[in-house]
Amino acid sequence: MSEKKPFYITTPIYYPSAKLHIGNTYTTVAADAIARFKRLQGYDVFFLTGSDEHGQKIQRIAEEKGVTPKEYVDGIVAGIKDLWKMMNISYDKFIRTTDDYHVTAVQKIFKQLYDQGDIYKSSYEGWYCTPCESFWTETQLQDGKCPDCGRPVEKAKEEAYFFKMSKYADRLIKYIEDHPHFIQPESRKNEMLNNFLKPGLQDLCISRTSFNWGIPVTFDEKHVIYVWIDALSNYITALGYGSDNDEKYKKYWPCDVHLVGKDIIRFHTIYWPIMLMALGLELPKQVFGHGWLLVDGGKMSKSKGNVVDPVTLVKHFGTDPVRYYLLHEIPFGADGLFNNEIFIKKVNSDLVNDLGNLVSRTAAMIEKYFDGAIQPPTAKEEIDSELIDLAIGLSEKLNEDIKNLKIPEALDHIWDVIKRANKYIDETTPWILAKDEAKKERLGTVLYNLVEALRIVSTVLSAFLPETSEKINKQLNIETTTWESIASFDGTRAGTKVQKGEAIFPRIDLDATLEELNKIKEEQAKKIAEAKKSEAKAIKPEITIDDFDKLDLRVVKVLACEPVKKSDKLLKLKVDLGGEERQVVSGIAKFYKPEDLVGKNVVLVANLKPVKLRGELSEGMILCGATDDDSKLFAVNPGELPTGSTVR
Ligand code: ME8
Ligand code: MG
Repeated sequence: MSEKKPFYITTPIYYPSAKLHIGNTYTTVAADAIARFKRLQGYDVFFLTGSDEHGQKIQRIAEEKGVTPKEYVDGIVAGIKDLWKMMNISYDKFIRTTDDYHVTAVQKIFKQLYDQGDIYKSSYEGWYCTPCESFWTETQLQDGKCPDCGRPVEKAKEEAYFFKMSKYADRLIKYIEDHPHFIQPESRKNEMLNNFLKPGLQDLCISRTSFNWGIPVTFDEKHVIYVWIDALSNYITALGYGSDNDEKYKKYWPCDVHLVGKDIIRFHTIYWPIMLMALGLELPKQVFGHGWLLVDGGKMSKSKGNVVDPVTLVKHFGTDPVRYYLLHEIPFGADGLFNNEIFIKKVNSDLVNDLGNLVSRTAAMIEKYFDGAIQPPTAKEEIDSELIDLAIGLSEKLNEDIKNLKIPEALDHIWDVIKRANKYIDETTPWILAKDEAKKERLGTVLYNLVEALRIVSTVLSAFLPETSEKINKQLNIETTTWESIASFDGTRAGTKVQKGEAIFPRIDLDATLEELNKIKEEQAKKIAEAKKSEAKAIKPEITIDDFDKLDLRVVKVLACEPVKKSDKLLKLKVDLGGEERQVVSGIAKFYKPEDLVGKNVVLVANLKPVKLRGELSEGMILCGATDDDSKLFAVNPGELPTGSTVR
C-alpha cells in the first residue's frame, strides 16, 4: 500500500471576543468542505482550527465583566466548539493559544529570534488599534483612524522588543514574485506588494508592557509577546513544533493552504512568512484571502447590529442549507451578500426541487414498480449516455475545481448532473414505460441509471453537505462511496433495496418564514440600539475644575476652507484666533460645504496636540455637537463673541 499524501489546511484561530456570526462561520465551512473533499480523495488530511485568546482586547472585556481572562475565554471557546459541531465541522485539532504546549513553544521561538539577533529592545511610540490588535504609524492612519477597520486608535508609548522585518523584505518580495500561487486571489498579492512591501517595511513591535494577558517573554517578564506573533505561531505549534514530539510537524509542514479573510491577509503574507524565514522554516504553499459576507447595507458587524446568527438559521433550516448558501452563493475570493429572501428561494429551488425531488422520485418509483429492489441495467439505450458521461466526468472536474479552490464552481458541476438526471426522467418517462410489460427491463435500467447518478452525486456531496449525503445513502441504500468508484457507472449492486423516507429538504414557506426572521432581526437590532444608547448616555468619570481648566477654547473666524484630497470626511480650514492664523483639519465635510463656513465664527480647542490627518497638519479641533449615531452635527456657534474670545 502506498503512503497517503499529507494535506494540511487551516482556518484562522478566532478571537473569543464575541459570539461568532455567519461571516466568521464562512471561513470554517469553506475549509471544512475542502478538508472533507481531500479526505475523500484519499489524502491524509490535517484540518486545524482554534481560538486566539490573548491580547489587550480580551483582557479589557474580561475586566468589564469582572472575571479573569481565562474564565472569560473558557466560556466563549466552549460556545465556539458547539457552533462547529452544529455546522458539522470535521477539524482534526482545535488549538487554544492558552494551551501549555503552545505557550512554551512560542516562548522558545521568541528566545531563538532574540538570540540570533532578529529581535532587539527599544521603545515604541505610535498608535494601536485594540479591536484589530494592530500597530500603526501616524502616516498610515486614515482620518486619524485605523486604516483597516476605521475605528479610533489609541496612543501607545512603551519599552518594547522589535523584530527586524526589514532585513527579510527583499527575500519575501522575491519569494512572492517567484511563487505566483503563494498569495491568492491575485488582487490581494498586488495589494501586499504595492501597498506594504515595496514602499519599505518597518520593524515590527512585538511585545507589550501596558497589560499582562499574554505569553510572557521568558528573559524579561514584564513583557508579553505581541498577540499576532503568538497567534500566527499556532500553525506550527499545533503540529508539535518546539515540543518533544514534532512528528506531525515533520509530516504536515509546510501547510498546503491557510484560508483567511481578506482583513488579515497582511499578517499571513508578510509577518508570518518573515517569521518562518527567520526561523529557517519553509513557507506555506498558499495563503488564500476570501472576501466579506455582506448584508443589505454593508459589512456585517456587531456594532452595526446587522449580524446574522448562524444558530438562528440552523434552527430554522438545518445545517446543510446554511452550508450550501455559504459555499455556493458567495463567489470564493470576493465579497458576497447574505440575504434571507435569496437564501430561502435558493433552498427551495436547488435543494428542495432539484436535489430533494430527484431523490424522492427515484426512490418512490423503485418502490412502486419493483417493490423497492434496484434492477440490473440490462436494457441500455443511446439516450442514457449523456447522463452517464456527465456523471463519470464529475470527479475529474471537481478535482480541478477544488485544486483551484473554486468551491461554488464545484457545486455548479454537481448540480449539472442533478439537473441532467431530472431531465432524464422527463425524457425517458418511466410512468409510461411502466404501463407496458414489454418495457419492464428498460424501466429497470432507467431507474438503475438514476440511482447510479445519485450515488456519484451523493459521494461527492459528502464534502459539502455531509448530512444530506448520509440521508441519500440511507434512502437509496448506497454502499459504495469511494473516490475511485465514481469514475465508473457500475457501483450499485442490482437487488439492493431502497427505502423511501421523509423528504430530505422540507419546502420553506417564503412569506411566513421571512416575516419570522425579520421579527428576530428587529428584536436583535432593538436590543443592540438600547445597549448602545445606555452606553453613550453614561456620564464619563468625574473631573475637577483644574482638569477642565487645562482646555483652552477660543472663538476663531474661518478665513478659508477646502476639502482634503481623497477624503470625503475631512475639511481643511484656515482660522484666525485674533491675530494668529492656524490650519485645522476637521471631519465635518458631510455636514458643511466649505462656503458655508468661510466668514463664520466657531469654537476651537486651541491647545490640543497637533496631529497630521491625511498628511495635513491639524493644530486644534473644531468644537461640535453631534447625535450619538453621527447623523446630525453642528459646529458650536459662539454667537456675537468677537474672534479670539475664550470659552469657559
Ligand atoms: O482575525 N465575512 O480573528 P477574528 C467573512 N484572531 N469573513 C469574516 C467576516 C465577514 N463579515 N467577519 C470576520 C482574527 N470574518 C485573528 C486571527 S490567525 C493566526 C488570527 C473572518 O475572530 C475574518 O476575516 O476576528 C477571519 O478570517 C475570521 O473571520 C476570524 O476573525
Ligand atoms: Mg477580526
